[in-house]
Amino acid sequence: MRVQRLALGLVAFTGFTIAAPAPLDLVVRDNFSTDNCPGYEASNVEKTDSTITADLTLAGDACNVYSPDIKDLRLVVEYQSKDRLHVKIFDKDEQVYQVQEELVSRPQHGETPSDDALLEFELVEKPFSFKITRKENDEVLFDTSGRQLIFESQYVGLRTSLPKNPNIYGFGEHSDPFRLPNVDYHRTLYNAESPNLPTNVNLYGSHPVYFDHRGDKGTHGVFMLNANGMKVDLNVTESGDQYLQYNAIGGIIDLYFLAGKQPAEVSKQYADTVGYSAMFPYWTFGFHQCKYGYWDVNMVAEVVGNYSTAGIPLEVMWTDIDYMDGRQDFTTDPERFPIAKMRELVSTLHSRGQRYVLILDPAIHFKEGYKPYEQGHEMGVFYKNEDGSDYLGVQWAGTMAWPDWLHPNTSKWWAEQIATTFSADNGIDLDGIWVDMNEASNFCSDIDCNPLDDQGNPPKVEHDPRPNTGRPIPGFPEDFQPSRRSLTRREDKYKGLPGRDLFVAKYDPVNQRGNLSGYTIWTNNTNADGTKVYDTHNLHGHAMSRVTYDAMLARRPGLRPMVLTRSTFAGSGRKATHWFGDNASIWEHYRLSIRQMLAWVSMHQMPMVGSDVCGFNADANEQMCARWALLGAFQPFYRNHAEIHAIQQEFYQWPLTIKAAKKAIDTRYKLIDYAYTALYYQTTEGTPMINPLFFLYPEDENTFGIQDQWFYGDALLISPVTTDWAENVTFYMPKDTFYDYWTGQRVEGLGTNVTRTGVSWTDIPVHVRGGTIIPQRANSANTTAELRKENFVFIVAPDANGKAKGRLYIDEGEKIEQKQTTELDITWDNGKIKVEGKWGYPGLNGESIKIESFKVLGQEDVQIGDLGENSKFDSASGSVTVQGSWNLDADFEVHI
Ligand SMILES: *[C@@H]1O[C@H](CO)[C@@H](O)[C@H](O)[C@H]1NC(C)=O
Ligand SMILES: *[C@@H]1O[C@H](CO)[C@@H](O)[C@H](O)[C@H]1NC(C)=O
Ligand SMILES: *[C@@H]1O[C@H](CO)[C@@H](O)[C@H](O)[C@H]1NC(C)=O
Ligand SMILES: *[C@@H]1O[C@H](CO)[C@@H](O)[C@H](O)[C@H]1NC(C)=O
Ligand SMILES: *[C@@H]1O[C@H](CO)[C@@H](O)[C@H](O)[C@H]1NC(C)=O
Ligand SMILES: *[C@@H]1O[C@H](CO)[C@@H](O)[C@H](O)[C@H]1NC(C)=O
Ligand SMILES: *[C@@H]1O[C@H](CO)[C@@H](O)[C@H](O)[C@H]1NC(C)=O
Ligand SMILES: *[C@@H]1O[C@H](CO)[C@@H](O)[C@H](O)[C@H]1NC(C)=O
Ligand SMILES: *[C@@H]1O[C@H](CO)[C@@H](O)[C@H](O)[C@H]1NC(C)=O
Repeated sequence: MRVQRLALGLVAFTGFTIAAPAPLDLVVRDNFSTDNCPGYEASNVEKTDSTITADLTLAGDACNVYSPDIKDLRLVVEYQSKDRLHVKIFDKDEQVYQVQEELVSRPQHGETPSDDALLEFELVEKPFSFKITRKENDEVLFDTSGRQLIFESQYVGLRTSLPKNPNIYGFGEHSDPFRLPNVDYHRTLYNAESPNLPTNVNLYGSHPVYFDHRGDKGTHGVFMLNANGMKVDLNVTESGDQYLQYNAIGGIIDLYFLAGKQPAEVSKQYADTVGYSAMFPYWTFGFHQCKYGYWDVNMVAEVVGNYSTAGIPLEVMWTDIDYMDGRQDFTTDPERFPIAKMRELVSTLHSRGQRYVLILDPAIHFKEGYKPYEQGHEMGVFYKNEDGSDYLGVQWAGTMAWPDWLHPNTSKWWAEQIATTFSADNGIDLDGIWVDMNEASNFCSDIDCNPLDDQGNPPKVEHDPRPNTGRPIPGFPEDFQPSRRSLTRREDKYKGLPGRDLFVAKYDPVNQRGNLSGYTIWTNNTNADGTKVYDTHNLHGHAMSRVTYDAMLARRPGLRPMVLTRSTFAGSGRKATHWFGDNASIWEHYRLSIRQMLAWVSMHQMPMVGSDVCGFNADANEQMCARWALLGAFQPFYRNHAEIHAIQQEFYQWPLTIKAAKKAIDTRYKLIDYAYTALYYQTTEGTPMINPLFFLYPEDENTFGIQDQWFYGDALLISPVTTDWAENVTFYMPKDTFYDYWTGQRVEGLGTNVTRTGVSWTDIPVHVRGGTIIPQRANSANTTAELRKENFVFIVAPDANGKAKGRLYIDEGEKIEQKQTTELDITWDNGKIKVEGKWGYPGLNGESIKIESFKVLGQEDVQIGDLGENSKFDSASGSVTVQGSWNLDADFEVHI
């Protein structure tokens, strides 16, 4: 069978610019060595003010190491802006696959004169190599001269040298250290279902971007816009030279160099390159509860009731695949989740100010009489075999077909299913959608699988009371961040070279699930636009999220869609939120959630992320779950979720988790406007709402490797207990002024580790960084809608010079278009508070826009006699509180 397929492939192998057209030549070189590859030579170099172009020609005999060398390439270098340099190397015939513009829209070439740019590109013509330098300090950021470029039909290799022991971060999705190992380390980017998040393998998503932090010499970023399966090596040569090497099994070299030079500036520049995150509804900051295994609608309702009885605020209830009939999308189990009861559940939740979210999977049950399949088939949306029949595999419901998200009919079909199933009038009126299994996961392990024989894993209702959820999103939408490039893609370009083996790349990117088609949609499938799944595999979840976002928008016109996706690609934040997949209830994954969050928010521009709180697989326990309730409260997306075989782990299950969750949620809710403001600025400016310590202390080497602490926003330093079962923690305090968040007391950081003992199961150390102002609500509430009726209090944390500043953004919370917004700059300067900005939000529906007090920390030395009559000194915390009633409708000043 394999031989036959190879032969078929080779027949098609004609008429394209590939160096070694003799079919047999491309396959067998068991002792090949990339050392013998000839590299390229540049010619016809042309320069304008802001662009350099050249032809690259293979500089000797083809080596055809993993596949035929491509003889003729083009180089295009663009000084796109002062801080972004674009280097693109592609086949002269423009046949090789390039990521579709509609999936990742490219930033514009701003035609910045090279003299004005922060970075410089230098070309060496023979053998071809290039170097990127930071002009300001001549720091070489990227230099490819250490190894010749290899550009084949199924292998693209490019190496850059790096300084010794570099600080490299990024390249998600992974469960490895935040600061990546740099010796004998590889990162595979090939989206795969990854239960229990194994280390040093490819996980659910691919983000081919890294940050390179060089202390006082600056930070820069490098984004490789290539979606093919890829392995990135970080290693040192035998002679001790450090390098980073890209090894992709196809696609082109499409590099964006982001100059920084502050770390957060790289984040902003990356947002400007792949797109800014969508803004998510205010209510997404509420607390969410889910479990796979809530076996009927009554049990779901009971969980909601039990939260209420325990006095723990619950904002959003979720249902996993349990709700579906036989685990088929767009159905509800008639006995366990009858539609009438589901409607009652949802209207009850809504009447209490709560929300409901359901899951959908991409695979559609291949079954006669099942409408979503029949309609999809009629509209031609499913992947097809060569003979035109639907391509089949196995998923939850049994034998399945998969929609091609690039097919012109798919968004309409998907939106219609969603509109019908989740109709507000006679379906389930849900508030958000969760898309799972979209790597895409296929229970067929390889191409020998016969999907018709495999009945999947449908629920056996008699002895297995599991619930099913399925939920629809209707409509289709409009892209709110439309393509920023005017170039239109020519129909016949970038489809991918013919004649390749679409099942096996001779260069092995080391996929944890085996071959390229292992446990996923076979890579020989063709997308509706003519591209191959071999090239687009890593974009499946990304494309599904986009179509689902649009469908959700059509279903709830004008409202910000909340789509949670498991599989992602660079730029997925524009449409979706993400959770870190199927972790386990173990301490290591409690810690892992921190470093994953750091990378996703600050480096992948996906701010609304978090882990399954208390862990998904295996049984949680009281102490760990209490710690995790507090940890998760300071992460953007906060959802408790467990697997079907795991014990129940709702926060109301144990005394310690009840206590921890009440405190955690109380604190989180008071801080929601602070977090929402940070999210808003991430979506508009790219400034990360979560900061790794080195982002704020970029010259302090002690911070470079810290992965168990973080800044929530830019003001709150979170230092949780991280050792298993411990009631103590050693954490780092940068050299700066801090205040204990809980007591208000000043704590001078000395640039050393600090040990805290006796940290109870319901405590988490939090410090306010001097120089910041935090807007809080005076009291928490049971729902975010109620929360908005509470007045504000502002916490002022002066720095060593007696200054501080903060921001506050307020809008209505859910609409995409916000006509009335308030955007404030708040400053403190030695005794005087100034609040100024744009005053647009009127406080709708009884919501408060009043400040009732300012609490200024660090006032131990204040002369009490100098204080105004509304100011009060508190000696325990050393703070001064000014009481009053200020309306957020015009600029004002306050003196303490
Ligand atoms: C590679 O193998 C071929 C035969 O399989 C042999 O002729 C050739 O010498 C080998 N080359 C190297 C560099 O080992
Ligand atoms: C790293 O380099 C060493 C030689 O310096 C080599 O033995 C090892 O295989 C390399 N590791 C990877 C992952 O490339
Ligand atoms: C709700 O609480 C009751 C009383 O503690 C308990 O018996 C029941 O199992 C709980 N239900 C769920 C779904 O947690
Ligand atoms: C889209 O669906 C319609 C039926 O609704 C069908 O006639 C048409 O061929 C489909 N388009 C494609 C490209 O398959
Ligand atoms: C993919 O390969 C399988 C197995 O050889 C074949 O049955 C199927 O038709 C191929 N699909 C396409 C689109 O060529
Ligand atoms: C990968 O594919 C090869 C060739 O078809 C096959 O021999 C091998 O068993 C597959 N490996 C796995 C892990 O499925
Ligand atoms: C911290 O807790 C761990 C685990 O309980 C214990 O082994 C260690 O001695 C404690 N350290 C301090 C400084 O109390
Ligand atoms: C703080 O402690 C960690 C963990 O023990 C250690 O790796 C780090 O070097 C320490 N930092 C300082 C500044 O001592
Ligand atoms: C939340 O609801 C509980 C009852 O479920 C009530 O006891 C509590 O006072 C409410 N909290 C707030 C802040 O309204």
